[in-house]
Amino acid sequence: MIDTLSRAFFHALAGSGALRTIAARYGMRRQDSFARRFIAGESIEEAIGAARLIQARGLRTTLDFLGESVATSAGADVATREYVSIVRQVVDSGVERNLSIKLTQLGLDVDRVTCIDNLRRLLDRAGDRFVVRIDMESSAYTAQTLDVIETLWDQGYRQIGAVLQSYLRRSEQDASRLSRLGIPVRLVKGAYKEPADIAYQKKSDVDAAFVRLMRTLLDENPYPAIATQDPAMIDATIAYVNARGLSRDRFEFQMLYGIRRDLQTALARDYTVRVYVPFGRQWYQYFMRRLGERPANVKFVLGSVFKERRA
Ligand code: FDA
Repeated sequence: MIDTLSRAFFHALAGSGALRTIAARYGMRRQDSFARRFIAGESIEEAIGAARLIQARGLRTTLDFLGESVATSAGADVATREYVSIVRQVVDSGVERNLSIKLTQLGLDVDRVTCIDNLRRLLDRAGDRFVVRIDMESSAYTAQTLDVIETLWDQGYRQIGAVLQSYLRRSEQDASRLSRLGIPVRLVKGAYKEPADIAYQKKSDVDAAFVRLMRTLLDENPYPAIATQDPAMIDATIAYVNARGLSRDRFEFQMLYGIRRDLQTALARDYTVRVYVPFGRQWYQYFMRRLGERPANVKFVLGSVFKERRA
């Protein structure tokens, strides 16, 4: 994981209008454009195409129609309608998939009722055909996000799933509560810049918390998803599963589109592996988080932009 300073730097860049313009111009223009390494495309057709290729490699997918930080009720309504229509197209395509979504896309910044109404529309459309995983955003939204998930779970929406971040100190308590309720959890390290009073700052602490949470979830959660590209975390998971004699059907690994494809394919020989496939026009913030995790990616992006400008 990247150090705190670089992560803060990329979060600042994520707000830059000038960079956003350059990205919009060059990021997706050609099949080899830089953003395509991490994002499947701007349209649902491209996402379904990517999901089919992943499926052909023996992996599963969760599709994420990118979008976040929607500020108005009208904007959240548009995003919800788009998502509902995507659900229909995805179901019609027959491709194997789950969905991932962020609550600020559905109006969490507007108010709780708007967000819950919109999420309910989406869940009603999805039925119980696949898991709708609620991504976890920055800590400003942790409590509200879990509250919305638990409220809908209480109302009988059993296809919903949560995400916990190992860098947050509160996650150990959340893991036990969600597991008691029976809500499936995806475990990640966490992708945002968080203050030291609520989040571990050192990679070694975040990793140690990840291992503790992984063990708790494998013991207590109905179906945990261990989501990481970190070989050390993957090895620790496999060692724990073997030591406890747990069935391989009890959990799955998840990894991000475009990162460590070699590891994804190798792991899928023995375990269920699901790839997180982001797509849509609102890809810039997601893309900046991926750059922030690994500055080496920046060299690759800059090289691609210069190549594009010469083309
Ligand atoms: P770590 O960052 O330590 O990286 C381990 C190794 O993986 C690196 O050394 C490198 O080889 C490779 N790697 C990691 N990131 C890379 C990158 N961007 N480019 C190239 N190589 C890279 N976060 C969140 O806050 N809320 C969420 O809802 C989700 N959802 C989610 C779903 C899925 C399926 C995954 C895999 C991840 C998330 N995340 C997330 C992101 C997560 O919090 C974390 O930021 C990234 O997964 C990177 O952390 P790793 O566990 O891979 O470890």
